[in-house]
Amino acid sequence: MDAKESPRIVLCVGGGIAAYKSIEVLRRLVDSGYHVVPVLSAAARRFVGELTFSALGSEPAKIDLFDDTDPIPHTHLGRSADLVVVAPATADLISKIAHGSADDLVSATLLATRAPIVVAPAMHDEMWSNPAVRRNISMLRNDGIFVVDPSEGRLAGGDHGNGRMAEPWVIASYARSILSPRRVDLRSRRILVTAGGTREAIDPVRFVGNSSSGKQGFALASVAAAWGAEVELVSTVDGLAGFPGISVTKVVSASEMHEATLDLVSEMDIVLMAAAVADFRPSQSATEKFKREGRSEWHVDLVANDDILADLVRRRRDGSVVVGFAAETSDLVEHAQEKLQRKQLDMIVANDVSVEGAGFDGDTNVVVIVTADGSRADLPKLEKSTVAEYVLEKAYSLLPSR
Ligand code: CTP
Repeated sequence: MDAKESPRIVLCVGGGIAAYKSIEVLRRLVDSGYHVVPVLSAAARRFVGELTFSALGSEPAKIDLFDDTDPIPHTHLGRSADLVVVAPATADLISKIAHGSADDLVSATLLATRAPIVVAPAMHDEMWSNPAVRRNISMLRNDGIFVVDPSEGRLAGGDHGNGRMAEPWVIASYARSILSPRRVDLRSRRILVTAGGTREAIDPVRFVGNSSSGKQGFALASVAAAWGAEVELVSTVDGLAGFPGISVTKVVSASEMHEATLDLVSEMDIVLMAAAVADFRPSQSATEKFKREGRSEWHVDLVANDDILADLVRRRRDGSVVVGFAAETSDLVEHAQEKLQRKQLDMIVANDVSVEGAGFDGDTNVVVIVTADGSRADLPKLEKSTVAEYVLEKAYSLLPSR
């Protein structure tokens, strides 16, 4: 990202112990190429030093509404921002935002901006579940503010509960997704994503599988959640557990994935079948480890797995959008179009896994998006999260309007 064109993020830091984690949020955002201006509340400075934020930020940390040479720092900060991130957002700061207070630089900047706002609350669980905080949080949501829900875990003073600020990488991932020019409103939409390669057991220690990393599925799930969707992720690989807005079901084999997705499909607005499902499984799975016992050959019989996607299409809800993925090594678009028709999909995302920068394990992908209504988009090599943005934007455009 060119420094001059970098989107500007104002990072507002509230006064809570999680302020130490916002140093890491700052570092991640700067490393991603954003121009980040830290703003610390008076209470934040009791937990962390402004020098740290000045040293890591794109500009020195701002701390006061009045001590600056700029007579109206809050309006300049608010106006120039492309995104404002509040991390940690204390119960008090959340109340101020909900009620429009502006008695310090942080709250005044938040009131003076028209940029999207991402709020990452952090507090003790008694406070997080308090009706006043619940009311304030729903006011924030109704005002279009993005809330990165806290998770369960260790809290200040050795306590444990629900109120621990989301991890820095999660907040940075939300920030990136919300800044995307392709963002669509997925609030109150339910999205099913499958990810990873299935493993078909031969015996307790061996399996038939593939090298899918699940990264494209994870990118789809995390962007969709940041855009407001309620995401069901059915995955063979660990990851994204605790990511706000995503409920994870871990599976191993194609038949487990089949069962888990069939239970969910009738309630989904969008289905994104990014998993690499094994087409075949061993006809028998031994309960004991197979012994070599001097053999020079071993033949494993395989039988076909059910086509999960075909079944999901049969049970889909009216008006939902079903998207398939195709990893090919030749005749990419021809194969993708054939699968789109054969499986009666609304859209297919095809990639040629033999191309540099595309495929299973990397962080980038090169895809072609083909829709049933005849549109085709050939995307260049992009990060998997950017590919996810294009896929979600297109899938959203195929939903019937509400
Ligand atoms: N798929 C599925 N169930 C299967 C196999 C594949 O749901 N048993 C899904 C994949 O998740 C993907 C799409 O179908 O979204 C296309 O997968 P692919 O393996 O490319 O398609 P196949 O129909 O198996 O064709 P091929 O002969 O190329 O393997």
